[in-house]
Amino acid sequence: MIKIDLKPSASFYEKSQYDEMLARAYSAFDTLESGSGAGNDFLGWNRLPIETPQSLIDDCNSVADKWKWLGVELVVVIGIGGSYLGAKCALEALSHTFASQLGKTSPQIVFAGQNLSQDYLCDLMDLVKVRSTALIVISKSGTTTEPAVAFRVLKHYMEDKYGRKGSRERIVAVTDAKRGALKSLSSQEGYKTFVIEDNIGGRFSVLSPVGLLPIAVAGFDIQAMIDGAKDAYNATLSKDESNPAIQYATIRNLFYSQGKKIEILVNYLPKLQYFSEWWKQLYGESEGKDGKGIFPASVNFTTDLHSMGQYIQDGERTIFETVISVEKTNRKINIQSDEQNLDGLNFLNGKEIEECNRMAQLGTRLAHIDGGVPNVVIEVEKIDEYTLGELFYFFEKACGISAYMIDVNPFNQPGVEAYKKNMFALLGKPGYEEEAEALLKRL
Ligand code: PA5
Repeated sequence: MIKIDLKPSASFYEKSQYDEMLARAYSAFDTLESGSGAGNDFLGWNRLPIETPQSLIDDCNSVADKWKWLGVELVVVIGIGGSYLGAKCALEALSHTFASQLGKTSPQIVFAGQNLSQDYLCDLMDLVKVRSTALIVISKSGTTTEPAVAFRVLKHYMEDKYGRKGSRERIVAVTDAKRGALKSLSSQEGYKTFVIEDNIGGRFSVLSPVGLLPIAVAGFDIQAMIDGAKDAYNATLSKDESNPAIQYATIRNLFYSQGKKIEILVNYLPKLQYFSEWWKQLYGESEGKDGKGIFPASVNFTTDLHSMGQYIQDGERTIFETVISVEKTNRKINIQSDEQNLDGLNFLNGKEIEECNRMAQLGTRLAHIDGGVPNVVIEVEKIDEYTLGELFYFFEKACGISAYMIDVNPFNQPGVEAYKKNMFALLGKPGYEEEAEALLKRL
């Protein structure tokens, strides 16, 4: 199970300060669990680990089986934000780093609709054209511009290549049960659809079909992921100091109250890079409102020790780090002895590379603490489906508690609308004429 180690940063606060913040976390926990807080119509994620029906797991796996049978080589997953990052993060964490170069993936999973880059989509189309392709299009609202544009382009291509009937076998939509353009389009075209429940917001949806379907299609064990989430659910049920979600929400808000306004999520495994992207969306979009909220940032160590390390050690003292520490690697390689020892590395003879990584981690932690950067350590055993499930649920629960501690609604994102309104106006969408006129004067 996930463990939080607060000891490394104990020198940064008094026990009484921690207890005061803990009391606030307890109260926020009550608000979350009783469903009495702002945004309480978006709490469906909270019970997903114990309410996911076997039929959903089976249904996701049967799409994977059917596409295997059809000889699908490439699956394009279309979505953005919460409809993208969970699956992307899981696939990056679980796949062989060089799977596509080794030709190991069947099917290969790629993403679209997570940007508006023409070059990206053209490059993707080059791949689509030489592979037997299927699409998973994910959008709760069904109206988000980026995935809708990508889907329009890809849908036309699919119909040209496989016909409308053939495309029906190769396109699956994940969207609202009743509303939205994607829902009506899917009903009209006869696509298989999976439902995103009304009470689950995008960034809290990785354990729903939004994340589970692409992860299953990529060949990973979604039952194990739900099992991990279930264990995290049970471990975060009680209102006491042993609840890791309460611990994490408490310590990050304690540092925030001390002027540490930036939290850097640190990993020492490149496969976790996109985990940080998922986490940044979860915390940034949930907490950053009403002029409040810790700014979520991330680094990949030891790589970024050679770029961001200087700033973290020595720059403005407004940061704290949360380190995801993974106890066991999935693979091993030892450093050999060398007769000439010209590089002077024989002192590492026989050691695993991971030993160097671990010592880098411990050394960095101490150096950063000496530099005035508190470190919270989140310990997990290894990276697999089960642990990812645990981490997803743990961070979601802690996020709900943490946002209520600063008195913001964790489940809305009013700030995201501003750019959309301007973009629609500038693109000439009907109904935005006045905004367009005002904006054009400013450009
Ligand atoms: O967390 C959220 O609600 C957002 O990030 C959404 O997931 C994102 O904007 C995509 O929305 P949709 O799934 O409606 O296309």
